[in-house]
This record gives sequence, C-alpha cells and structure tokens, in this order.
Amino acid sequence: MGKRRCAVVALLATIMAVIMELAPLTVATSRRNMLTNGLGMTPPMGWNSWNHFGCNIDETMIRETADAVVSTGLSKIGYEYVNIDDCWAEISRDDKGNLVPKKSIFPYGIKVLADYVHRKGLKLGIYSDAGYFTCSKKMPGSLDHEERDAKTFASWGIDYLKYDNCNTDGSKPTVRYPVMTRALMKAGRPIFFSLCEWGDMHPAEWGAPVGNSWRTTNDIADNWESMISRADQNEVYAEYARPGGWNDLDMLEVGNGGMTEDEYIVHFSLWAISKAPLLLGCNLRNMTEKTMKIITNKEVIAVNQDPYGFQAKKVRMEGDQEIWAARLSDYRISVVLLNRGPVRYSTTARWGDIGLDPKTEVEARDLWEHKTLRTHFVGNLTATLGSHSCKFYVLKPIA
Ligand code: GLA
Repeated sequence: MGKRRCAVVALLATIMAVIMELAPLTVATSRRNMLTNGLGMTPPMGWNSWNHFGCNIDETMIRETADAVVSTGLSKIGYEYVNIDDCWAEISRDDKGNLVPKKSIFPYGIKVLADYVHRKGLKLGIYSDAGYFTCSKKMPGSLDHEERDAKTFASWGIDYLKYDNCNTDGSKPTVRYPVMTRALMKAGRPIFFSLCEWGDMHPAEWGAPVGNSWRTTNDIADNWESMISRADQNEVYAEYARPGGWNDLDMLEVGNGGMTEDEYIVHFSLWAISKAPLLLGCNLRNMTEKTMKIITNKEVIAVNQDPYGFQAKKVRMEGDQEIWAARLSDYRISVVLLNRGPVRYSTTARWGDIGLDPKTEVEARDLWEHKTLRTHFVGNLTATLGSHSCKFYVLKPIA
C-alpha cells in the first residue's frame, strides 16, 4: 500500500473512532428535544376500552375494570392507567361549547369517575380527536376547541389523553397536534399525551416535543398476521424511542381469544422488548389464568420498564427465524428468539449481532420459564422453537 493510501486509511480509522466515541453522546443529546411534562419516563402501563368493548362502554364497566386492576394485583406490578376510548361524549357540545359526557352511559359525569379511579390509586385516561368528529363519528373532536377541552380534561382530573386523527380539516397532523400539546401545557395538570395518527406522517420523527407516545401503525386486530406486522412496522423507528417519548404499536390483544397461547406470548414479548405502551385490551373482569400468567410476567415487564428505554431491533432475520435485541441497564442484553414459521425450528442468537464481544461468557435468564440456565454461554445461544413461538432471555455477562 502506498504511503498516501496508508495515511487516508489511518485518517478514516480515526474519524470512525471519533464517531463511535460520540455515538452515545448523540443519543443523549437527541433526548433533549422533547416534551417536558415529566411523564412517560418508562412506557405507560394500563388498560384501554377499545379493543374489547369498542363503543359499548359505560360507567359501571369502567368502574368494575378499575376494581379489577386492583383486585387481580395488576396495579401492584405497574398497571395504572384506566383509559376510556371513543364514544364517551354526546354528539353536541353544550351552549358554552364544552364537551358533555353522554348522559345515558356516564350519568354522573367523568369527574366523579376520575375521583373513584384516583381513590383506588389509579389514573384515568380519555380520548379525543384532532378533527371535527372522532373516528366513530359519535362524538365531537377537539379541533378548534383545544384549549377549552384541555381545561375540561384537567378540571375533571384526567391523566392521559389519546388523540386521534379522523375527520380533520385536511391540514397535517404536524400542524394540528402541537395545538393540543400547547393547550395541555396551559391547562395546569400533567396529562400524558398519546398521539394517534397511525404512523401516517412518521410521527417518530417529530413526536418527541409534541407527545409522550405516538402510534406507528394502523389499528391492530386480534390475529397473528395483524399483530406481527405491527411489530415489523414499528421496529424501523427503534432509534426514536426514549424515556418520555415512545413508539406505540397499538394496544394489546392478549386475552381476547383470537390467537393461541404461544402467539399471545410472542405478542407480549415483542411489545415489552419494543418498549411499547403496555395497554391491556381485554375484559379484565373475566380473564383466564393463562391470560393472567402472560400479562403479569414481572420479568418481562421489567424489560419493558428498564430505565434506559432502548427499543429492540431486529438484529438477524433468516427466513422465518428472527433475533430481536436491546441493551438493558446493568450491562445486560434482552433478546427474543422468534420462530414466525409453521414448523418447529432451531435458531441462534450470535453475540456479534446483539452487541456482545464474541468471547464474553454470559448467564442466561429465561423470562417465560423463570429459570436461570445452568449452562453459561460464549459466542452464541441456540434454542428450538415451536411454530409462532419465542424465547425471551436476559443475558448477563459474567465478570
Ligand atoms: C381509531 C384508533 C383506534 C380507536 C378508534 C376509535 O381507529 O386508531 O385505536 O381509538 O379510532 O374510534
């Protein structure tokens, strides 16, 4: 190699080294540009009415759901939000322009319900829309009423607002959503702000200063294809997730009956490792033991709630076999080995793919078996997986 070429190579190597040095700094710096309401430092956990109940909601059901969050022990492991979705208001505002809770289903209004939920140590969420009507068209949206509605929500004691994107004036979400952000900031109560424009305008790219989470996908349905495709669509935005601002791949379907137990385990695992909001979407008043076992897996929840907030990426894909991984606090790595195919298959997580030095020896904790494996692993870890199933490990380097 000529002297000149050597010098160029050396220079490039130095530049690369500096970039590698600066990489963590870039991540840290980008975290500055965000909504400073202090909420969502870990992904929100709770329940939302839409996936199971649609418009079929009322005060009794919401109260009973709040009761169930406590009586089943869900509140003890972090589930706190009880979120009312679409269809809670009358179709017309009152003569002052205020939203009015629908008398036939919320006869005592929302404040009384919020007080009830707060007395249980939980938080109440509500839903509106950055358009003239919500998606159901059964109630008004908040477009042109943002300040009034934000004040109303604050006065009722609302803790979380999901903000949808139907029936708009045709302007971009990047224009309409920040109006509600400012209105909430002025309303005098910290309210988690969940942007729901379904990923249309890549909200991961502009959502951090606007909201605490942003939907990256269209509505989920209770089947494998729908669930897994949402995980794929959301994964490409992994770099944007951070404490205070999360990619939201829609609410959970676990317990609604459309998938097998293994598929629901994959669903919960991918949502957890993707640092997604864990918003349950089944009927909490009537859950099977299998559903409870999935949604109460504390070790999986701990990955979701890890203080670093790094969202997993797909680090290897070979046919139907995939490896998803994300760094955790305490030098640990979370990894999901996934078989998306129709037959049993063996798959391998390689250290080079998941950010470990190939010589590192690790201890592996199996989060669904609740067992630390006896063998230590160096370089890779292989598991045999049934169709539509996964393994979820936390790997800890041995000092
Ligand atoms: C949209 C949202 C859903 C739900 C419905 C309610 O489709 O994406 O999550 O809120 O509206 O109408």
